[in-house]
Amino acid sequence: MNPGYQIIERLRDFHKLSAQEYRSLLENDDRDFCDRLSKEARKAADGVYGHEIFVRGLIEISNFCRNNCFYCGIRAANPSLERYRLSKDEILGCCRKGYTLGFRTFVLQGGEDPRQDDEWTENTVAAIHKEFPDCAITLSLAEKSPESYLRLKEAGAERYLLRHETFNSGHYSRLHPSGMSRERRLGCLESLKSLGYQTGAGFMVGSPYQTLDNVVEDLLYLQELRPEMIGIGPFIHHSSTPFADFPDGSVALTLKLISILRLMDPEALIPATTSLATLEPEGRRKGILAGANVVMPNLTPAARRGDYALYEGKAASGAEAAEGLEELKKELAAIGYRVAVSRGDCKRSKASN
Ligand code: 5AD
Repeated sequence: MNPGYQIIERLRDFHKLSAQEYRSLLENDDRDFCDRLSKEARKAADGVYGHEIFVRGLIEISNFCRNNCFYCGIRAANPSLERYRLSKDEILGCCRKGYTLGFRTFVLQGGEDPRQDDEWTENTVAAIHKEFPDCAITLSLAEKSPESYLRLKEAGAERYLLRHETFNSGHYSRLHPSGMSRERRLGCLESLKSLGYQTGAGFMVGSPYQTLDNVVEDLLYLQELRPEMIGIGPFIHHSSTPFADFPDGSVALTLKLISILRLMDPEALIPATTSLATLEPEGRRKGILAGANVVMPNLTPAARRGDYALYEGKAASGAEAAEGLEELKKELAAIGYRVAVSRGDCKRSKASN
C-alpha cells in the first residue's frame, strides 16, 4: 500500500496529525493518492451531513474599509472603486427576498466601516432577529472589541466569520500594513469563541509569500482551535492592490486542503467558496466532492455586487447568486446532493466543543 494512505487513514480515524505528516500529505501529488484523500473526505462529510448541502445568503453590507490589507480590493487606499453602504432597510429587504427563496442563514459581511458602528449594527441585527426568529445571523465584519462582539451577540448574532489569514507572524506582516497585528487577529478569534459564537477561521491558499510550512502551521492552528466553520479559498490578484502582479492561488491545492480539513474535522462547516468558483468553472462542484458542505450565494442588491470586489472577476451570477438557487440545486442534484432549507447548524454537540 502507498505509505501515504496510512497517513490519510490516521487523519480519518484520529483527526490529528503532526506537522511532518501534514507536510507529507501536501507534498504528495500522486493522482491515486489525491483521489483517495478526496474520496475519504467526501465519505466523512456524508457520514455527518448526509447528502445535504447548507446554503447561506451572503449580504455584502459595506465596501468602505479603514484597513489596507495588501491583497484586498476594498482596501481604503483603492480609489478605483465606487463605495457604498447598505441601509438597515436595504438589508432587511435582502433578507426578505432570501427568506422567500429558502435561505435560513444570513451572513452580513463588510469592510471595517466606522459609519456602521456598534449601535447601527446592533439595531440591524436586532431587526433581522425580530423579523426572522427562525434564521441564524452570521457576522463577518472583521475585528472588534470583545465588548462589541458581546453586544452583537446579545442582539441576536450567533455566528462570526473571521479568517485568521495566516498563523505565521512573519507572513502575516507581509500581507498587512504595520498597524495590523496577527496577535490582535488571533485574540479576536479567542474572544469570539469564549463568548459562545459559532466561530469561523480560515486562510487564503497561495497568498503572496506563503510557503508550504506556513500552510502546515495554519493546519496545526485549526486543529487546535477547532472552529465550527473553516473558510479557505485561493488568493486572486486585484490590479488596484500592491499584490497586482502576484499569481493566483492553486485550485488543486485548495481542493486538497478542503479534503484535509474535512478529515481533520468531519463536523466542521466548510464552504466551497466564491473564489474557488471564480478561478474554476467547476469549482463549486469540485469543492463539494472534495468534502465541502456549504455554499454561500450572493444576496447583495445586484447593482452593488460589482463594487464588493475583494479580487478581480469575483463571481456573483449564476449559481453564485441567490436568484440562481434553482441552478445551484440542479448543479448539486447532478452530483447527488440537495440544498437543505434549514439554519444548517454545525452538528458538533456543545459538550465536545
Ligand atoms: N483573493 C482571495 N481572497 C481574498 N480575500 C480578501 N482578498 C482576497 C483576494 N484578493 C478573502 C480574505 C478575507 C475574506 C473575506 O476574503 O481571506 O478574510
